[in-house]
Amino acid sequence: MNNNPIGIFDSGFGGLTVMSAINKALPLENLIYFGDTAHVPYGTKSKKAIIKFSKRISSFLIKNKVKMIVIACNTASAFALSVLQKTFKVSIIGVIEPGSKAAVSMSKNKKIGIIGTDGTISSKSYPKEINKISKSDVYQQSCALFVPLVEEGWVEGEIADSVVKKYIKPLLSKNIDTLILGCTHYPLLRKTLEKNIGNGVVLIDSAKATAQEVKNVLIQKSLLSSGKSKKFLKFYVSDNPEKFQMIGSRFFSKRISVVKKVEMEQI
Ligand code: DGL
Repeated sequence: MNNNPIGIFDSGFGGLTVMSAINKALPLENLIYFGDTAHVPYGTKSKKAIIKFSKRISSFLIKNKVKMIVIACNTASAFALSVLQKTFKVSIIGVIEPGSKAAVSMSKNKKIGIIGTDGTISSKSYPKEINKISKSDVYQQSCALFVPLVEEGWVEGEIADSVVKKYIKPLLSKNIDTLILGCTHYPLLRKTLEKNIGNGVVLIDSAKATAQEVKNVLIQKSLLSSGKSKKFLKFYVSDNPEKFQMIGSRFFSKRISVVKKVEMEQI
């Protein structure tokens, strides 16, 4: 048993979808979230920059005594997971392996689609991970406008429909039966995606799959919380805590009351 918190980080508020799934799957766990709002979006940044930010954030979380780190951001998982695992002793997991496992287990025809940011798609992390588990045909599509669309709150309606249609068009002819939502923001577009991708395609939300993986790791390592300490959820950002508090509640599906700002240079 270990009552220390789980650390979760992302480029901004998108990773709150992962935190929310972890909070549901593991209600007794204490959680600390770090949103790197000073550097968002990660999806368009270089691997080098993302590794630098991810190392700093992980050091911050470790100083806050986390027992495990979850990289909630797909782009940071794609670029920084292996470097962080080599650098730090604490258990670190990303969202790509759990999402890939879930997709492989759901797909019957082994034709899997992936949508994500430019960074995640160009890293080819999902196809590599999927093919480690089971030989499959994988079709990728980067959807650069989905993140701003979701942040603007335009997740349904005419504009959302036409943007979604445009991006997923190349996937429609591939006969995929499973689609990985390979970005923290995409679960909020689920309805519009379902409507436009057609029946019979299963949408995989990495957030849920990751929460399950966190639970498995804690059980395996005997690190589950006893639930005897007073439960806390803490939120830190590198810029603009007010905006995080306002928009974040949409991603976390709960009101976020206190958000603290941390200067990245001081970590
Ligand atoms: N969190 C990012 C991801 O899952 C999306 C937002 C960004 O580009 O920073 O890839």
